[in-house]
Amino acid sequence: MSSAIELYDITKVYDLSGTAKVEALRGVDLKIEKGELVSIMGPSGCGKSTLLNIIGGLDNPTKGRVIVDGINITSMHEVKLATFRSERVGFVFQFFNLVPTLTALENVKLPMDLGEKLPLEKSKERATKLLNLVRLGERLHHMPNQLSGGQQQRVAIARALANDPSIVIADEPTGSLDSKGGAEIMQLIQHLNKTMNKTFILVTHDPNVAKMTHRVVHMLDGQVLETTQPSKGEPDVKGALEAQREILLAEMEWLKKALLLEEVRIEKEPQAYNDAVTEYAKRWKQLKRSLRDLRLEA
Ligand SMILES: Nc1ncnc2c1ncn2[C@@H]1O[C@H](COP(=O)(O)OP(=O)(O)OP(=O)(O)O)[C@@H](O)[C@H]1O
Ligand SMILES: [Mg+2]
Repeated sequence: MSSAIELYDITKVYDLSGTAKVEALRGVDLKIEKGELVSIMGPSGCGKSTLLNIIGGLDNPTKGRVIVDGINITSMHEVKLATFRSERVGFVFQFFNLVPTLTALENVKLPMDLGEKLPLEKSKERATKLLNLVRLGERLHHMPNQLSGGQQQRVAIARALANDPSIVIADEPTGSLDSKGGAEIMQLIQHLNKTMNKTFILVTHDPNVAKMTHRVVHMLDGQVLETTQPSKGEPDVKGALEAQREILLAEMEWLKKALLLEEVRIEKEPQAYNDAVTEYAKRWKQLKRSLRDLRLEA
């Protein structure tokens, strides 16, 4: 198998008007093989969407090298990048992002008509086939608001496949569906991955979704921690470690919020505020240490 995606030492820094910088990715190395179905997991803000956007050519890294489908897109010009995206990558989003004024068929046709590679009659035929493939052959002329969430996501998946991309990237594709709807979308993605031999990379917060992929990439704080293979019966000790890590991270998130709440005391009770900051800093250090220990044992 050759690689669909190769990332070398990817860093992404968002520079917020020169005052504050956010290091969203800090040295990510990752390879994804052709035909793999990979999930990316990790706490909110750890850089999952940033990573997907860089893979999909929606954003450039600050540093590092991005090779997708054998093409080095690292510092590709926006015009070329747009062509690369439309020909090679399909996108699926949490909230479907269908055009509300177009029917299911027109939504799926749209990327083909924009690409101008197929005559209009052919694009209609292909869109119909794709909607049949996602089992929506009987809903071709429905508007998005006449479809259930799961059905809208199936239209979005058909649209992602419109220009026959080699890679489909999906940012929380089941995030706004209930567990049954989410499982159905995952079964469809598994089916398409297997039958069409396309590479799928999806971000999820749901361990049940991750279990339905070949490999899980675990991220934390802008870095890749480890990758696991759920379908090959990985011992659950990793799951337990992940759960502990989630709990520690949740407390750290809570500490940050709590500290913001304390700020009302800065003026009236500066001493109390300072004491609180000291306490929080102490606890923060403990949590960081525990996280580091977990990583060593993983
Ligand atoms: N355009 C931007 N400008 C500035 N900072 C950004 C931008 N996009 C993302 N960030 C910051 O980069 C970090 C990573 O964000 P990202 O959206 O990749 O996280 P995520 O893992 O996808 O989170 P979630 O699970 O909540 O979707 C966050 O701290 C976020 O605030
Ligand atoms: Mg995100």
